Amino acid sequence: MRYRLYIDDYPVKRIGDVWTDTAGFAGDQIYVVETRPLIVQRCILMTTDPGDLVLDPTCGSGTTAYVAEQWGRRWITIDTSRVSLALARARLIGSHFPYYLLADSHEGALKESSITGKTDIKEVYGGNIRNGFVYERVPHITLGSIANNAEIDTIWERWQEVLEPLRNAFNSATGQSYEEWEVPRDLTTPPPPRKNRQENQGDTR
Ligand SMILES: C[S@@+](CC[C@H](N)C(=O)[O-])C[C@H]1O[C@@H](n2cnc3c(N)ncnc32)[C@H](O)[C@@H]1O
Repeated sequence: MRYRLYIDDYPVKRIGDVWTDTAGFAGDQIYVVETRPLIVQRCILMTTDPGDLVLDPTCGSGTTAYVAEQWGRRWITIDTSRVSLALARARLIGSHFPYYLLADSHEGALKESSITGKTDIKEVYGGNIRNGFVYERVPHITLGSIANNAEIDTIWERWQEVLEPLRNAFNSATGQSYEEWEVPRDLTTPPPPRKNRQENQGDTR
């Protein structure tokens, strides 16, 4: 065995044009020909953006409207059957949907900044749904992403102004002149005396 790949290292699966995970009936069916929401969801997410209008002229129990509502799409749905429309109406009125943050909002920008570490907060936001939502991120850890970590500068800038005064205070309290990489991590045992700079340079040559 060369290495272990944990599912959390990249919890994403590419979806091709053969869908083997959508087979079967809807879980709690309320209509005899009800479509599985997962199928409709995939179609809507592939072909529309938030705020788009989705039309389903064969409403049935309203799966399309239900999924469209859940993902921030507007919808129109039609059926010749009164039974179907009554079922769809009851289903939509009785549903609870997740709460999303708009990317184009102050709350959304704060959330985005907490996820990405980028602090690009504007004064005013338009609340336009067409700019999408703040989406969940999954890590994709690759050797390339570790080697070319563009985030590292942002992280360094964010923490430097917090850590630098602490290092100065620590150095003056201990009478030492530790560089960032020399500050002892474990203070349960007394740190060895710091070597002077010349000795350190000699070590690395
Ligand atoms: C297979 S079902 C749709 C099921 C739906 N996708 C769901 O998840 O519940 C087809 C629906 O189309 C409706 N329908 C059939 N012909 C129609 C027509 N000409 N105009 C409007 N609705 C029609 C039927 O009444 C039926 O409710």
